[in-house]
Amino acid sequence: GGDGSATDNGPRIELHLHLEGAAPPGFIRDLAKRRHVDIGQIFAPDGGYAFRDFAHFLEVYEAAASVLRGPEDYHRLTLAVLEAQAEQGVIYTEAFLCPQFCGGGDVAAWRDYVAAAYDAAALAESRLGTRLRIIATAVRHTGPDAAKRAALCAAETAGAFVTGFGLAGDETAGRPRDFAYAFDMAREAGLGLTAHAGEWDGPSSVRAVLDDLRVTRIGHGVRAIEDTALVARLAADGIVLEVCPGSNIALGVYPGWAAHPVNRLRGAGVPVTLSTDDPPFFRTALGREYARLADAFGWDAATFAAINRTAAGAAFCDAATRADLI
Ligand code: ADE
Ligand code: ZN
Repeated sequence: GGDGSATDNGPRIELHLHLEGAAPPGFIRDLAKRRHVDIGQIFAPDGGYAFRDFAHFLEVYEAAASVLRGPEDYHRLTLAVLEAQAEQGVIYTEAFLCPQFCGGGDVAAWRDYVAAAYDAAALAESRLGTRLRIIATAVRHTGPDAAKRAALCAAETAGAFVTGFGLAGDETAGRPRDFAYAFDMAREAGLGLTAHAGEWDGPSSVRAVLDDLRVTRIGHGVRAIEDTALVARLAADGIVLEVCPGSNIALGVYPGWAAHPVNRLRGAGVPVTLSTDDPPFFRTALGREYARLADAFGWDAATFAAINRTAAGAAFCDAATRADLI
């Protein structure tokens, strides 16, 4: 209940969080000032991020990320984000980190960013008891060549900390099969695979990432609800949706909580998990999401516990860590 900042529903697991997208606006504003970069236009009068629609959101996101300049910035960002995660009762987070933002797709530069994030994660784990794993992420609207470079970075650092490869950005750009080479490289390296789909585009987009990229999880995936056969396939194959209801509502995919399909997807047997995507951008937090879902659908502590068990089972980490979460 309340704003849900307390851990009133047991330990939480969050599988879909963009690290840059979790940067508090004050953190970005201070960096911009120090670097003498004028990005005042991305802020609302109240100091939060301001955007009109999804295309503008992506622009504002990239402008905010552009002031993060080196591994030291990502070290501080990772610590700040994990402090917020601990406050929300999150014991395990998978965060998207983008090799294109972190060293421009260069493997050696990317290693330094990963080392910085790892160092911050180790500090947060010992101080706060919250854990982090990284999903290296390509950006769909920057095309397949950039995605191949991102996948090479991911493959070169694959291990106990970098455990996944993903595809974010504008899902209406290009076709999933253009990214098959990058996903094949990541799969060969033993990485877990996820792609954003079914957020802006419909069921065919979800089918395409399943068929052409062979992902086991889908970022959002909520528009699968428009196709009964697809919903049945997700349930039968145990494809896990990383559902971010507050993000969808803030960006106008759905008009409000009651209209969001997460309850219907869950009712149809689709494995759903709950995340915040880019919490300060959407003026949300995981606790707030839980509170709104409890109000909209009558979900109780047992429902949230089951959803967190689903997330634990779907986490891209080694079996021992996974068993520890369940
Ligand atoms: N990158 C950060 N947030 C995103 C979202 N909601 N959809 C696609 N790409 C993103
Ligand atoms: Zn996302």
